[in-house]
Amino acid sequence: IGKEIVVYDEVESTNSKANELLKQGYPSGTVVVADRQIKGKGRLGRKWISPSGKNLYMSIGIKPTIPPKYATLLTLTSVVACTTALRRYADVPVLIKWPNDMLVDDKKVGGILTEMKIEGEKIKSAVVGIGINVNMTEEDMPEEIKEIASSLKICKGEDFSRSLLAVEIIKEFDKWYQLLEKRQRKTIIDRWMQLSGTIGRQVKIVLSDRELIATAEAIDEEGRLIVKLTDGTYEKICAGDVTLLRA
Ligand code: BTN
Repeated sequence: IGKEIVVYDEVESTNSKANELLKQGYPSGTVVVADRQIKGKGRLGRKWISPSGKNLYMSIGIKPTIPPKYATLLTLTSVVACTTALRRYADVPVLIKWPNDMLVDDKKVGGILTEMKIEGEKIKSAVVGIGINVNMTEEDMPEEIKEIASSLKICKGEDFSRSLLAVEIIKEFDKWYQLLEKRQRKTIIDRWMQLSGTIGRQVKIVLSDRELIATAEAIDEEGRLIVKLTDGTYEKICAGDVTLLRA
C-alpha cells in the first residue's frame, strides 16, 4: 500500500480519481490525496464537504482477493486502520459507529466510502475513500453539519499535519489490509468491537423500507451488524443508516 502516492490540488472526488488510475494500470495499493474536492461523495448518495487546506481526502485503490461476501469487512478493516492511526497520531478518543463512521463524543470526525466493482465471484477492484476532518473549525462548517460534525482541531485545540496523518493511516492500512488478505477475519472483527461505540447501545436503523429501534449486539463474520429488537428477536443489518440513541 502506498508505493505509488499521487497528490492533486483539486479533483472531483479522490475515489473517482483512484478508480481511473487503477483502470490506467496503476498498481493495487495506489493512494490518491487531494487538497480539495469539488464533488466529494459521502455514503448513501450524500455529499462530503471538502474545503481546501483543512482536511484529509484520500483514496486507496486496491485489488482484493477476498470473496465478495466479505466485502463489508473491507470497510471495517479500513475503519479499524484509520481509527488506530487517529488515536495514535492525534491522541483523540475516537470510537467507531457501524459500519465506518469515526466519532469523538458522538460527533463525526471522519468517514469512509468504499466503492467496488464485483464481477461474478470476484471483487475486480475496490476504492476505499477516507475523509478526515483535520483542521476544520466550527466557523468553517456549514450550518447543517455543525451539530453532528467535529474535527481533530476542535477536539484538541491545535492544528495537525495532514501529510503526517496520511502517512500514519497508510502504515496502519497496510498492516490491517494484509491481515484481511490472510483471512485473519477474527482479529479484525475483535479489534473493531474493541473500538466500537455502537455495540451495547440503543440504535435507530433506517432501512429503505422501514425503521427499527434495537440494541446493537455484535457484528458477524461478514461484518453485518446484529441487533436485538424489542420483541427479543434478532436481525442482521448489511446496509442502512444507524443513529445512536442516548446512552
Ligand atoms: C461518509 O459518508 O461517512 C463517507 C465519507 C467519505 C469521504 C471521503 S473524502 C475522500 C473520498 N473521496 C470522496 O469523494 N469521498 C471519500
